[in-house]
Amino acid sequence: MSRFLSSRFASLEAYTPGEQPQDMQYIKLNTNESPFPPSPEVIQAVTAAEVSKLNLYPDPECKSLRKKLAALYEVGEENVFLSNGSDDILNFAFMAFCDQSRPVAFPAISYGFYPVYANLHQIPFTAIPLREDFRLEPEDYCGIGKNIVIANPNAPTGRTISVAEIEKILCSNEDHVVLIDEAYIDFGGESCYRLIDRYENLLVCQTFSKSRSLAGGRLGFALGSKALIEDLNKIKYSTNPYNINRLTMIAAEAAVDSNDYYMANCRTIAENRAYTVEKLAELGFETIPSAANFIFTRHKAIKGNALYSSLKSKGILVRHWTKPDIENYIRVTIGSREQMDAFLEKIREILKEG
Ligand SMILES: Cc1ncc(COP(=O)(O)O)c(C=O)c1O
Repeated sequence: MSRFLSSRFASLEAYTPGEQPQDMQYIKLNTNESPFPPSPEVIQAVTAAEVSKLNLYPDPECKSLRKKLAALYEVGEENVFLSNGSDDILNFAFMAFCDQSRPVAFPAISYGFYPVYANLHQIPFTAIPLREDFRLEPEDYCGIGKNIVIANPNAPTGRTISVAEIEKILCSNEDHVVLIDEAYIDFGGESCYRLIDRYENLLVCQTFSKSRSLAGGRLGFALGSKALIEDLNKIKYSTNPYNINRLTMIAAEAAVDSNDYYMANCRTIAENRAYTVEKLAELGFETIPSAANFIFTRHKAIKGNALYSSLKSKGILVRHWTKPDIENYIRVTIGSREQMDAFLEKIREILKEG
């Protein structure tokens, strides 16, 4: 830390992203990326002609892409907000809607960025414990008088809650923003975005990073009432109006046009998930039911950190946390069938080695 850092940030603990090794070739099952490349249409769309326009700023309103997304989700263009990854949107939402007098609540086991954003903006937060087997109890969020952030499916567990449960939370917190982070919704959960017409306090956040194979392009979007979207734009235009680059915008438009390709990939991931869970069960693993492109699993005989390290030494990267209530689990991204077979093979070796 330099002596110049503002005292506001002296004790801030930054988020630790999953490893992105640039040296050795790993089978990467650690950051929930898609194993599938972008669609052929996306690859064709990013042409030399588009690259040659990089001397010009991109459209800060992202009109053309917003129009396509609005058509896909059958919402108004004024209900769509786009930004540089959904992390950017979460950051803007914490900034826009929370403060000392408007605290926030989220599950105690969830996306690790939520407490980081709260601390960054000096927002008091409540981490609400999950119930047995990491189940989220909607009652715990009803009428709590705070803004609420819930990942659905939750990360790193993969568990979902229903639209009816979300609606219960929304009705009982009408004066607070309820942000549903649907980064993994396309892999099996039921999106609640249709409720944005009825609940002006609902903000739904999704990403192109997971189901749409565009993690490297950095693009997230939010769906919400016109008023909430205007608030997010106020923050965006007060920080970096050009936060989506031209090439990402072109790629994303082609991605929306090839929606069928991505939805078919999601079905393949769901099949590979079921396959992996079944094989792991045969090997003595207990896995939390998941609707996401990852699973949260543990083995009675091997500790989570030992599994993580042994897999890494064998060329497979998964994610592991040292927090006491989840330290015996590993989170494994669901990849292609070949990747999952390679993972299972290494697991068998590890179990044999004891
Ligand atoms: C629950 C959740 N929300 C949001 C994100 C951020 O995704 P991105 O910024 O790539 O859109 C992630 C990424 O892993 C996530 O797990």
